[in-house]
Amino acid sequence: MNTLIHVTYNEIHEAVKRLADQVESSGFDPDVIVAIGSGGFIPARILRTFINRPIFAVGISYYGTGDIPMETPQKIQWIDEVQKKLTGKRILLIDEVDDTRVTLRYCLDELLSHEPEEIAVLVIHNKEKQKQAEFPPQITRYFAAFTVEDRWIRYPWDASDIGEHDRLASDADAQQS
Ligand code: G4P
Ligand code: MG
Repeated sequence: MNTLIHVTYNEIHEAVKRLADQVESSGFDPDVIVAIGSGGFIPARILRTFINRPIFAVGISYYGTGDIPMETPQKIQWIDEVQKKLTGKRILLIDEVDDTRVTLRYCLDELLSHEPEEIAVLVIHNKEKQKQAEFPPQITRYFAAFTVEDRWIRYPWDASDIGEHDRLASDADAQQS
C-alpha cells in the first residue's frame, strides 16, 4: 500500500471552500487571517477568496534539515509590530496540517498573549494520532477538512514535477474507487 497521500491544488481549493462555508455557518466572523508558513501560505491565499480579510504571515519551522524535529519550533519571521494590534480581534489561524500540534500550540500561545477576542483554528488535514501538544482551553472552534491516518502527505507545492504529482494523486483515487 502506498504510504504517501498526494493532494492536488484543486482538492485543496475545494477543501478550503468547504472550510470557509463551515466557518461562516459557525457564526465566526474573523477580523484577520494569520497564516503559518510556509505550508499555510497557499491555503491562506485561497481562503481569502472566500473570506476576504487581511492576511498576516508568520514563518515557523519545526523540522530542520534532514526532517528531524527541533527542540521547539523556530520563528523564521514573526509579526512583532502588527501583533500588538490583535488585542480584541477575532483571528482565524490557518495551517496546512495538524500533525503533532506543537507548532500550532506555539503560535496559539504567542497570539493569545496579546489577548485577542477569539482565535479559531483551520487546517486542511488533521492527522489522527497521539498529539504532543494540546490546544489551549480558549480554543473552542476548530475546522479540519480531512481527518487522515498518520501518513506523510505530499502537497502540490512540494512537487518538483507537478504533472507526475497529479498523476500519482489520480492513480490513488482510481485505486480507492
Ligand atoms: P502542527 O503543530 O501543525 O501539528 O505541526 P508540527 O509542529 O507537528 O510540525 C509541522 C511541520 O511538519 C511543518 O513543517 C509541516 O509542514 C510538517 N508536516 C507534518 N506532517 C506533514 C506531512 O504529512 N506532509 C508534509 N508535507 N509536511 C508535514 P515545517 O518544517 O515546520 O514548516 P513548513 O514546511 O510549513 O515551512
Ligand atoms: Mg513542512
